[in-house]
Amino acid sequence: MSGTSPHISVLLAEVIAALTPRDGGVYADGTFGAGGYSRAILGHARCAVWGIDRDPDAVTTGRNLETAEAGRFHMIEGRFGDLDELLRQRDVNQVDGIALDIGVSSMQIDQAERGFSFAKDGPLDMRMAQSGPTAADVVNATDESDLADIIYRYGEERLSRRIAKAIVAARKDKPFERTSELAAVIRKVVPKHADGIDPATRTFQALRIIVNDEMGELERGLAAAERMLAPGGVLAVVTFHSLEDRVVKSFLKTRSGEAARPSRHLPQAAQGPEATFTLLSRRAIRPGSEEVARNPRSRSAKLRAAARTEAPCWGRDGGR
Ligand SMILES: C[S@@+](CC[C@H](N)C(=O)[O-])C[C@H]1O[C@@H](n2cnc3c(N)ncnc32)[C@H](O)[C@@H]1O
Repeated sequence: MSGTSPHISVLLAEVIAALTPRDGGVYADGTFGAGGYSRAILGHARCAVWGIDRDPDAVTTGRNLETAEAGRFHMIEGRFGDLDELLRQRDVNQVDGIALDIGVSSMQIDQAERGFSFAKDGPLDMRMAQSGPTAADVVNATDESDLADIIYRYGEERLSRRIAKAIVAARKDKPFERTSELAAVIRKVVPKHADGIDPATRTFQALRIIVNDEMGELERGLAAAERMLAPGGVLAVVTFHSLEDRVVKSFLKTRSGEAARPSRHLPQAAQGPEATFTLLSRRAIRPGSEEVARNPRSRSAKLRAAARTEAPCWGRDGGR
């Protein structure tokens, strides 16, 4: 754990204000991490919290909290995309609030051996769950055009083709094993950004997203939240880049009936199912300047929150 800084929870007060934990309530923290949200929820009311994380290191932290908060806090190792199955298996059929704080923790990014960082040399790994294919497997086995597509789509990197070409040329000599090897190849073909952002940033983001199926998890997690929340229960989601925020924004806009309707003159039945969420605010909530100064990693964070209505779930086909 050398060189690891503690994770500072982002938008913590805002997430708690959205969830408004109440006595007797049951809450799910789908991205337990260092447990900042779980502890704050437990501190706000005489309620119960179920923590979920796919990272065995975070689960170890959660087990300690389980001991300290016996009977009130429960830790589950798993993915929030399976949130409803994980909870139902434990006889929890409904919750009063769900928090998702998408992305990596400071512990993950700062530990060189987890392989998330282009700034620190480590094995090219990036697996949150510490199992399954690594980033090295993706980089060494994916064909050039698919690699370019991944980097373009999930890194929003304009120079994706150039990078994919350089990766494929380099791996012919020697397969990639270390984060520093990949970062060096990218830095050779991508000019330094004027804003000082490392040229490897976008490609590393893309690989992290694909290795952990982060977009798929987010979509499954949002749908699971719709199924698990009690009427009035709040879903609070914090994201760190535009790709994720777009998915959350579009889900909540559609499910709250705020998305463009086919026609205002059509009856409700023809326009689609009843809204399953009510937005708590139309705009995303951003950290204030004081939080960004205290924790620069919060600067790109956005919180979107919505309360569940009594309407039935739309389901996978959009409820039509
Ligand atoms: C940004 S940290 C959460 C920090 C936490 N809110 C706190 O205050 O300490 C994100 C955590 O979510 C976990 N995670 C990311 N995607 C996940 C998924 N699909 N299922 C479960 N855990 C996930 C990561 O392993 C990481 O520990």
